[in-house]
Amino acid sequence: MHSTLRLNRRQWFKSSGAALAALALAPRLSLRAAPSAPAADAPGSPVGPVQLSFNENPFGPSPLALAAMQRELPRVHRYPFSLTPKLVKQIAEREGVPENHIVLGVGSGEILETYGVYLGRQQGEVISVSPGYMQMTKAMERMGSRVVAVPLNERLEHDLDAMAAKITPSTKAIYICNPNNPTGTIVPAAKLRAFCIEVSKTVPVFIDEAYLQCADDFAANTMVGLVRDGHNVTVARTFSKLYGLAGQRIGYGIMQPAMAEVLRPFMTGSVNLLGVVGARASLDDAAYVDAARAKIKAGRDALIAVLKELGRRYAEPQGNFVFFHTGRPIAEFQQRMLAENVIVARPFAPLLEWCRISIGTPEEMAVCHAALRKVLQT
Ligand SMILES: Cc1ncc(COP(=O)(O)O)c(C=O)c1O
Repeated sequence: MHSTLRLNRRQWFKSSGAALAALALAPRLSLRAAPSAPAADAPGSPVGPVQLSFNENPFGPSPLALAAMQRELPRVHRYPFSLTPKLVKQIAEREGVPENHIVLGVGSGEILETYGVYLGRQQGEVISVSPGYMQMTKAMERMGSRVVAVPLNERLEHDLDAMAAKITPSTKAIYICNPNNPTGTIVPAAKLRAFCIEVSKTVPVFIDEAYLQCADDFAANTMVGLVRDGHNVTVARTFSKLYGLAGQRIGYGIMQPAMAEVLRPFMTGSVNLLGVVGARASLDDAAYVDAARAKIKAGRDALIAVLKELGRRYAEPQGNFVFFHTGRPIAEFQQRMLAENVIVARPFAPLLEWCRISIGTPEEMAVCHAALRKVLQT
């Protein structure tokens, strides 16, 4: 259980890996039969600070995933090697590519890291944005490459023309996070597609779609079709966000087989057994995932309504978080929000008077809305 958030017991059992351990010790205790919570922990009254800083899915994994992981618990003394090819096959079918286009990672973070280490060794440049998600670009930097960070445009979206203008013979990769973290903005699909087709003729393009499954129109915006068509484009996805499996550390990349071949030797470990079975079951639970997306959108809309009421500017969000103008130093704002029981995200330079808040449960968001009304009006 996260030390800063006291959820009621039922929520805790649903959302925590500890629930699985507890269930192993007490096999007859089902999720549905979790003991009723003490009054102080009733739904709607989170007691400690609410955790809205990591862009997790507050509704947790699909019940099918929980049940599959629970069934698998007695076999955790075995390696997952016989099950991982099944997950790869399932993902490949879903993405419409042959299995040799898929690389599993310990979170999609491992795909970003290995890609960054592999290309970073060429000691050239990687083009990205500021503010943006920096896991891949930092890996390149660690290997001796230089990060060229292009400012976002006035709507806090990627400025593809400005990024293209930065390409030189030293450019070894371009990283685009769509929707962007921390701003949540999406790049217009037709423009991004044309950009990728043109640029990937000379420079590998990495599209991080960690949050695209939270967006209103996934199908219109995913760039996976470009991988299918043979372009030198890599798309990363994760089970950490909409699928609610952040603690199980599982994600994947879809890429050309030649890129998959060179990345695999850079992997530092393997995905874990419960993550694999949880991911497989999640892929089969479209109804749960659709419901989670709808709840996240409702949370996003409600937060925007509060920001509008408070006269705040915000970036047009398509992920499970909202980025908005606080009008005061973020360090001060963080402290004020914490005093109101809300943990917001870290600072994102250079926008140090802006804040990212993840969408929580309706109960958590009620605490957040009240805090915003108090903090932003004083
Ligand atoms: C844009 C983006 N990409 C990738 C990741 C890595 O997530 P994971 O390793 O859990 O898949 C994150 C995590 O927050 C993220 O925000």
